[in-house]
Amino acid sequence: MSIENDLHLISDFDKNYCLQVFAPLPVAFTKGKGSYLYDTDGNKYLDMIGGIAVNSLGHANPKLVSAISKQARDLIHCSNYYYIPQRSELAYRLCRASFADKAFFCNSGAEANEAAIKIARGYFSHQDIDRYEIITAEMSFHGRTYGTMTATGQEKFSKPFAPVVPGFKYVPYNNIDAIKTAITPKTAAIMLELIQGESGVHPADVEYIKAVRNLCTEKGILLIFDEVQTGIGRTGKMFCYQNYGVTPDIMTLAKGLGGGVPIGAMLCTDEVAKGFKPGDHGSTFGGNPLACAAGIAVMEYFGEANLLDNVNLVSAVLFEKLNKLKAKYSCVTNVRGQGLLIGIEFDESIIASGLREELFRAGFLVSAIGRSVIRIAPPLIITKSQATSFVKALDSLLATRMGIKPNPIISAFKNIGRKENPAAKALSEAKPEEPKPTLPAPEEDELS
Ligand SMILES: Cc1ncc(COP(=O)(O)O)c(C=O)c1O
Repeated sequence: MSIENDLHLISDFDKNYCLQVFAPLPVAFTKGKGSYLYDTDGNKYLDMIGGIAVNSLGHANPKLVSAISKQARDLIHCSNYYYIPQRSELAYRLCRASFADKAFFCNSGAEANEAAIKIARGYFSHQDIDRYEIITAEMSFHGRTYGTMTATGQEKFSKPFAPVVPGFKYVPYNNIDAIKTAITPKTAAIMLELIQGESGVHPADVEYIKAVRNLCTEKGILLIFDEVQTGIGRTGKMFCYQNYGVTPDIMTLAKGLGGGVPIGAMLCTDEVAKGFKPGDHGSTFGGNPLACAAGIAVMEYFGEANLLDNVNLVSAVLFEKLNKLKAKYSCVTNVRGQGLLIGIEFDESIIASGLREELFRAGFLVSAIGRSVIRIAPPLIITKSQATSFVKALDSLLATRMGIKPNPIISAFKNIGRKENPAAKALSEAKPEEPKPTLPAPEEDELS
C-alpha cells in the first residue's frame, strides 16, 4: 500500500506527521523528465526553479541516473575511515576546475559554510593568532545551523533562537567603506555571496568584489565566497567568482553539485588547509561513494553537453525577453541576476506569492521571494523554447493583471490539457481538523 498518488492522503500525512516548517503548494510530484515535473494526476509543469537551483542536469538525467544506480549497486557508504575513490576523484575534478587545492565534502550548503567558518577560525588559532571575527553582508543567506544562521545577515532567521554564535559582524552589501569600518585586528574572514539569491537575487558589483579581495590580501584576512547557489555553472561560468576576475581563499558549494543527490563541499587553498588538523572536522556521510559519484557525473556532463554554452545561450534569451516585459509592463521594475539565476522584481501592484500561484496553475514552477520578487533558477539543460514558453505565460498573466487584452494564442496556452485536480482544489480551501490518517495494514504478501 502506498500513498504515492493520492494528493489528499499525502497532504494529510504531511500535516499530521511532518514538522510544519514549509508552506507547500497543493501538489505532489511523482515523476520528472528533463525540465519537466509531473504531479499525481499526470499534469506536466515546466520546472523554472529546479529544486531551488539543485537539479542542474534536470530530472532523471540518464547519465546521472546511471552513475548513481551503478554506484548504489557497488557501494553506497563505507565511512571516512577509508580512502574513497569517488571522493578522491571529485576533489581532484573540483580543484582542477577552480582556484582550490583541497576539498572537504559534507551533505548540504549549511554544512559547507560551517566548515568554511570553522577552518577560517582554525587557520588563525592554530597559529596562536587571536582572530575570530567574521564579517558577512546584510540580507545574506548562509544556512540554518547555528553558525550559518548567525552568519546570515537577516535577523528574522535567528531572533527566536538567540543567543547566537559570538564573533559575527554585518555590513551593507556592495559597500566597501562599510567593510573597511567593520574590520578590526580580530577580523579572521569576510564571507560573501556573489549573488544574494535568497534575499531577491542581488548581484555584487565587480568593483566591490575586487576591492574586498584587495583589502583581504592587504590585511591578511581570509575571503570566503558562498557559492552554494551560484556555483556549478549556474551563472554561466563553472563558479561565479570567475565572472569577477578574483579568487577567494575558501569557497563553498552544494545545491547543483550532486544534481539532486545531497552533497556539499568546502574548497580552499593549501595555505588555508592548515586551519584543520586531523580530527578537527568531519562528517559521517560527507564524501560517501554515492554522493561523490553523483558529483563526478555532474562535472563530466558539463564537458559532454557543453552545458555552460547552453546556460549562456538560454540566459541571453531570458534576459532579452524579460527586459521586453519590463518595457511593456510598468509593474515589472527590475530584471537582474546572471546566467540562469534571475530575479524579476515587481511594484506594489503584484504580490509575488500570488503570481507564483498563478504561474503554478498555468504549469510553471518558480519561487517567490519576499513580497515582490519572482526567482527563476531552472535546470541548466533548459532549452530556448522552454524558456520562451515561460516568458509567454508570464506575459499573458501580466496582461490579464494589467487589464491589457491578452494575446489569444498565449492565453489559450494557460491550463491547456490540465486536469482539474479536486484534491489540490480542496487543499487550497480551509479544512476542519480531521482524525490523524493511518495506513491500512499491509496485505500479507507485501510483508515478505
Ligand atoms: C547562498 C546559500 N548558502 C547556503 C545555503 C544553505 O544551503 P542548505 O539549504 O543546503 O543547507 C543556501 C540555501 O539556499 C544558499 O542559497
